[in-house]
Amino acid sequence: MCGIVGYIGPKNAYPVLIKGLKRLEYRGYDSSGIALSQNNQINIFKKKGKVSELEYFCSEKETYTNVGIAHTRWATHGEPNDNNAHPHHSMNNTFSIIHNGIIENYERLKKDLLNKGYTFYSDTDSEVLANLIEYMYNEGDHVNAEQAVRMALSRVVGAYGLVVMCKDEPGKLIASRVSSPLAIGIGEGEYFLASDATPIIEYTKNVVFLNDKDVAIITKNSLTLKSVDADEEITPEIHRIELSVGELEKNGYDHFMLKEIFEQPKTITDSFRGRIDPVTKEVFLGGLSEVMPRILDAKRIIIIACGTSWHAALIGEYLIEEYAQVPVEVEYASEYRYRRPIIREDDVVIAISQSGETADTMAAIRLAKEKGALVLGICNVVGSSVARETHAGIYTHAGVEIGVASTKAFTAQVTVLTLIALRLARKHQTITDERYFTIIDDLISVPDKIESILIKHPSIKKIAKKYYKAVNALYLGRGFLFPVALEGALKLKEISYIHAEGYAAGEMKHGPIALIDNNLPVVVVAAKDRYYEKVVSNIQEVKARKGNIIAVITEGDSALRDMVEDIMEIPKCDEVVSPLLTVIPLQLFSYYIAVLRGCDVDQPRNLAKSVTVE
Ligand code: G6P
Repeated sequence: MCGIVGYIGPKNAYPVLIKGLKRLEYRGYDSSGIALSQNNQINIFKKKGKVSELEYFCSEKETYTNVGIAHTRWATHGEPNDNNAHPHHSMNNTFSIIHNGIIENYERLKKDLLNKGYTFYSDTDSEVLANLIEYMYNEGDHVNAEQAVRMALSRVVGAYGLVVMCKDEPGKLIASRVSSPLAIGIGEGEYFLASDATPIIEYTKNVVFLNDKDVAIITKNSLTLKSVDADEEITPEIHRIELSVGELEKNGYDHFMLKEIFEQPKTITDSFRGRIDPVTKEVFLGGLSEVMPRILDAKRIIIIACGTSWHAALIGEYLIEEYAQVPVEVEYASEYRYRRPIIREDDVVIAISQSGETADTMAAIRLAKEKGALVLGICNVVGSSVARETHAGIYTHAGVEIGVASTKAFTAQVTVLTLIALRLARKHQTITDERYFTIIDDLISVPDKIESILIKHPSIKKIAKKYYKAVNALYLGRGFLFPVALEGALKLKEISYIHAEGYAAGEMKHGPIALIDNNLPVVVVAAKDRYYEKVVSNIQEVKARKGNIIAVITEGDSALRDMVEDIMEIPKCDEVVSPLLTVIPLQLFSYYIAVLRGCDVDQPRNLAKSVTVE
């Protein structure tokens, strides 16, 4: 979704801004733009399409400056075009603004401004904000840019991450946020602003994450933090970001998604590293230790998430209910936040989010906190809103995930959920020693087993070649592998635009069976587990209707090998860890199909990596 970059300091700002925009491309966008403070005026260049088009557009222009802001826009108000792209300027060009989020009361504000004689050139809510700031600046006595921004923001309802430049105060950037992330990188006599840390880390590791309603006033030598509502200075809290630039590069892979699929043996190891005692094999979750008594007293666990994280949550439900014997409910954050759910003080709510910034998930977290529940976070991005706003939590340690379609973050989430289920099961004494140690041993062996699946990628590519022209696809699974079927279908539709449905195999007869004919690829996740025989029956039902079956099977399963058209094999494993293995061939299958269809794998159309608006 929209991305923000800003720079102030001794460098030429233009290349820093363009590079920053490119770092943010992974978030998904449809236009981009740049505003440069030059000779006491602000020059704005913007273009629909990719950042490379903006760069081409600017190639003949004078772009040198030491202060500038830049933006990638993902359309909400008004179609993607040059006009609606950011930065926006106020009517008299005094202010220029880049804005992520949505100003909910923009229509009323716009009406007031129209009545006061303001005119508008775009369909965006952000232009309204630019004009509101200018109005405040011109109306008050001796109002400076910072005061005008704070006055305007006090009238705004909605979400924003924004950076403002004022023509009259050229050596200054003013930034603020509510519900939309904004980070400030601190260099030597220079500052970098961005909506996530990726554009910043090659310059500095020292970052301040703005909190809601913070207003940052930045010159090349100073960072002053205040609040929208109060003039007193706040001391900025500086975080150190342990990210390397190498993590932001493809390192020889054709796409970030492929790189991230292949990283999973390492990322899963990183997720359980230091959390399983090498001698006693007990699970230790440092992030939860202080709140563990309350977790153990919980009458119910509610897991909230969106997208792929929601699929991980379903696996968590199955694991926690079975092994820790605690009732679990899984909710879409977008539904939960609006449907007046019953939340009790003895509930534990777990929010799962790769980015830690998903707007619906954040709203659900705030609701659960308001109602007195203990709210835990499982997230990947260090310092993200989920990490900061939950009572306690666990990082997944999957590293930066750039491909929009989530892969390594999913398996890291499932790993963490497995650890939580095992920890609770041990504490509640609802698991036998034998079962516990079997699962732990199998979890530790998962990275090696994934390596052995990844080696077979050419065979999966071959299968993709057979099916890449399909129009529809059906994915089936049972038990722990039902959410894997959902995730497999989601991966395919996200990046290849093939319509794919994931279903609980037992539900097939209640609808999807009507779709089956000899044109429909049916992907069945059929590893050897307690449901295996049932899944084989489902396969027979598909076969009887001439569907083309691609089965994910356990090595050595000659019965299924002979029964279906195509197979993707996983090594023998305990059923508890089978989601971590079976999802790998499905990720690769979607990837190769999308490549064969010529799709933009890392930045699929209309999707965003971090969905910061609802
Ligand atoms: C977007 C992404 C998905 C992701 C979902 C939830 O739709 O494209 O890959 O699963 O948001 O994101 P989160 O960061 O909260 O896990």
